[in-house]
Amino acid sequence: MVSKTVLGLFTAGVIALCCTSAAMADAKASIEARQACMKANGGMIKVMVPIIKGQKPYDKAAIDASIANAQKACGGWADWWGADTKPGGAVKTEAKAEIWSDAAGFEAAGKAYVTAEAAVQASTDEASFKAAFPALGKACQGCHEKFRQAD
Ligand code: HEC
Repeated sequence: MVSKTVLGLFTAGVIALCCTSAAMADAKASIEARQACMKANGGMIKVMVPIIKGQKPYDKAAIDASIANAQKACGGWADWWGADTKPGGAVKTEAKAEIWSDAAGFEAAGKAYVTAEAAVQASTDEASFKAAFPALGKACQGCHEKFRQAD
């Protein structure tokens, strides 16, 4: 007969296994989700920059669609920064440790981005779009400089 102690240890082992791999799956899902959000951000910038440069005509519908796409992809943002998603963990990430050591700074960078994006979204013609865009570009850059590892 298996003693209670052995059974207890076995059960504890199974739980540890279960929950370590579950946490790892969570970390992987979080990192993939935030990278997908960032890719959608990149797609948004690719729509906007040619308009800024005058290579493409102003197109409010295309701008709005690119913002909606990014907002959809980034909807779960707040849940993607668990301690198990730090750099140096099991899943590769370009996130910097400063996201966790300077959480207030990271949050401020996120807020600057949301504000700038809303201003671009609220722009209604070429002139107001061109006036609002630089702050959005700066918000991407500002956060990356502090919180994303250079390629
Ligand atoms: C509040 C911080 C923050 C803001 C604002 C931000 N980013 Fe990022 N970005 C990150 C972090 C952190 C990563 C690394 C994510 C990872 O690898 O886990 C990243 C990664 C990326 C990547 C690489 C994604 C991949 O393929 O792995 C792209 C592209 C990108 N960002 C574009 C943008 C653009 C464009 C904007 C502005 C419209 C923007 N980001 C705004 C923090 C930010």
